[in-house]
Amino acid sequence: MEKLIDPFARPISYLRVSVTDRCDFRCVYCMSENMSFLPKKELLTLEELDRLCSGFVRMGVEKLRITGGEPLVRRNILTFFRAMTRHLDSGALKELTLTTNGSQLEKFAQPLFDAGVRRVNISADTLDADKFAQITRWGRLPQVLRGIEAAQNAGLRVKLNAVALRGFNEDELLSMTEWCAARDMDLTWIEVMPMGDIGNEDRLDQYWKLTDLRARLAEHYTLTDLPESTGGPARYVRIEETGQKVGFITPLSHNFCESCNRVRLTCTGELFMCLGQEDNADLRSALRNHPGSDAPLEAAIRDAIRHKPRGHDFDYSRQTVDGRVSRHMSHTGG
Ligand code: GTP
Ligand code: 5AD
Ligand code: SF4
Repeated sequence: MEKLIDPFARPISYLRVSVTDRCDFRCVYCMSENMSFLPKKELLTLEELDRLCSGFVRMGVEKLRITGGEPLVRRNILTFFRAMTRHLDSGALKELTLTTNGSQLEKFAQPLFDAGVRRVNISADTLDADKFAQITRWGRLPQVLRGIEAAQNAGLRVKLNAVALRGFNEDELLSMTEWCAARDMDLTWIEVMPMGDIGNEDRLDQYWKLTDLRARLAEHYTLTDLPESTGGPARYVRIEETGQKVGFITPLSHNFCESCNRVRLTCTGELFMCLGQEDNADLRSALRNHPGSDAPLEAAIRDAIRHKPRGHDFDYSRQTVDGRVSRHMSHTGG
């Protein structure tokens, strides 16, 4: 079947799928304290998710990342992971993975490994228990630490994702680096993006440019740029002293859209062609109106990809927040 190529000649090989908008945490930059969540009937069923993802795999998607909200709070989500194993076995899918807050990994790490997952990205912005409770509102660090340990014991490679926040985790730059190095974990820093209607003035104050973070790392370590990519937006360096990889995701200070290879599916079946744009396509009706045939779904996907924009327009440079999008990050899964 013909592969998906967008109008800027970028092959679409990476699908991020949000399987729920719910989460057991309330990270301040992601959600407001009182979020209202979608009614269950709006959600794609696990069978519908399977049909959709399998369609994308037929059209050339090789990397599937499951996100949320928190993907592991979706009921029976293991059934879905196990269903995707067949695409790994056939060789069509090169990677099945997830981004998680780690809270449920004690229970899920081993079954995920058994389903073919080999790598997980775990979000943690601080390793200080009080600060962790403050930034996640509802999260508790010891539970996440147990989740990380369970993941490593199950044989999963772990990468920590930290949102770089000025005045919040600046002082942990070296200690988090060392902590990850000691556990053979990679670490990726993310610039905070203007998503959702939550305290935009704060967002500007909190913005910690990764060029500055990198310069501070370079005062302490020898950094070597790595050419490789995992198919995601991060650029990596190796720290020669520790041997670990440190990644930088810089939607603000360096736009990486030219090499974008991904689209994102929400838990209601909307396909967002770009994290930073409002434009989306409804794939749920293509699914539900044609239970017996995947042809309308495939046509809807191809049509959506023809509308993939060149990139996002996030910008803090004029001391205001430009290019912001109104939906919360939990809606599109990061
Ligand atoms: P790897 O496979 O490990 O490279 O992961 P990844 O970076 O593709 O996925 P992950 O879920 O760890 O992404 C981390 C964060 O990077 C996301 O939650 C987003 O905040 C951000 N991100 C990922 N893709 C994009 C993108 O296309 N545009 C923008 N602006 N940010 C992105
Ligand atoms: N800007 C940057 N990263 C964010 N995340 C959630 N909201 C934002 C935001 N506004 C990150 C989480 C997690 C990933 C899924 O997205 O910290 O690592
Ligand atoms: Fe939940 Fe992740 Fe959002 Fe935090 S960033 S509230 S863990 S979805």
